[in-house]
Amino acid sequence: MADHAILAGKRVLLVIAGGIAAYKSLELIRRLRERGVTVRAVLTEAGARFVTPLSVQALTEDTVYRDLWSLTDESEMGHIRLSREADLLVVAPATANLLARMAAGMADDLAATVLLATDKPVLVAPAMNVRMWQHAATQANMTLLESRGVLRVGPNDGVMACNEFGPGRMAEPMEIVDAIAGFFAEAAHRPLAGRRAIVTSGPTHEPIDPVRYIANRSSGRQGHAIAAALAKLGAAVTLVSGPTRLPDPAGCRVTHIETAREMLAACEAALPADIAVCAAAVADWRVDGAGDRKLKKDGGGPPALALTENPDILATLSRPGERRPALVVGFAAETGDVLAYATAKRARKGCDWIVANDVSPGTGTFGGSDNTVHLIRADGMESWPTMAKDAVAARLAEAVAEHFTKDFKAK
Ligand code: CTP
Repeated sequence: MADHAILAGKRVLLVIAGGIAAYKSLELIRRLRERGVTVRAVLTEAGARFVTPLSVQALTEDTVYRDLWSLTDESEMGHIRLSREADLLVVAPATANLLARMAAGMADDLAATVLLATDKPVLVAPAMNVRMWQHAATQANMTLLESRGVLRVGPNDGVMACNEFGPGRMAEPMEIVDAIAGFFAEAAHRPLAGRRAIVTSGPTHEPIDPVRYIANRSSGRQGHAIAAALAKLGAAVTLVSGPTRLPDPAGCRVTHIETAREMLAACEAALPADIAVCAAAVADWRVDGAGDRKLKKDGGGPPALALTENPDILATLSRPGERRPALVVGFAAETGDVLAYATAKRARKGCDWIVANDVSPGTGTFGGSDNTVHLIRADGMESWPTMAKDAVAARLAEAVAEHFTKDFKAK
């Protein structure tokens, strides 16, 4: 269970939408208030069919905000002020309809308007029938909202009011309290605030002609996860990404590129930075003289492609100089003798750390969701257990944060 002490004095704006689970939101208000949280509530029209405004008002000991057009509410408390005076917006229950309106950016009632106008973090607790939750539309809306940084707790599996079983039940009030405490704990832990980071991710595409290109199987998962993890610790992150199927991670500035030369230019444009993490699988070579005319089968057999070397982005960023980031981290994908090759690579590229991994067929690393890595620094090597790429990213970001805190203390 998360430490609830952090909740004292926090301000939550609770949006109660129209679902049977709304009754649990009354309990949620009580549990939050017991922990010193000020709760202000917005009740949708449908929400008011499930819980009475009077109950919400009694429990929050505040006005219940319901109507976008109510002159009194708008003069006493505009929707902008409602969100300005909150540290976190919590939507519980978050119905399929409200999630859809949030995803579409609609502002057709007070709840949707507040959620569109806010610059505060938003946590949703979805609650709906299992088929509504599993519907492609709801799933797409949720994925989109999460890619924009919306946080989620639940839904849980269980028997629902409609007597069906499956995911769709709103998280229990105490689980929501835990998620809120977890959010505030994380928000307080921002050791990289004020630091700038560049992260490269994904493959590069090197044109052969206007329709064909050379590429590789990198999914970008590890690099994107690192960008998100650094941002979560407070860094201002520029993610320079080759073509991937991944959504842009929340909280990062993303530059989309195709070729190695474009990647280098985007990285250089993002300087100065304190941290650079080169996780991209950059093509080592490009086709020399790839032009804007499609290669034709002219009966003379396959064309001879002349390759020329691409710039090495990691080595370029590692080069000593005023603009060199204080910490440059590279990756080494090896298929045997991992540590020896990776250690040599660290020296050759001139970077500070190397994250080495075995990408031999069968390890599932390339394109997979897990990674087994070794962190090689000047003063030694650590082997990490196999973890999800998100967990590797979180641990690497913590190591980066520790490096800067240590450095700072030493000064
Ligand atoms: N890298 C880069 N620019 C390149 C090539 C690689 O920035 N043109 C970076 C990668 O992002 C990674 C590291 O360098 O951080 C990998 O080095 P590389 O020499 O490409 O190693 P491998 O891909 O492991 O290949 P090889 O063992 O053949 O050197």
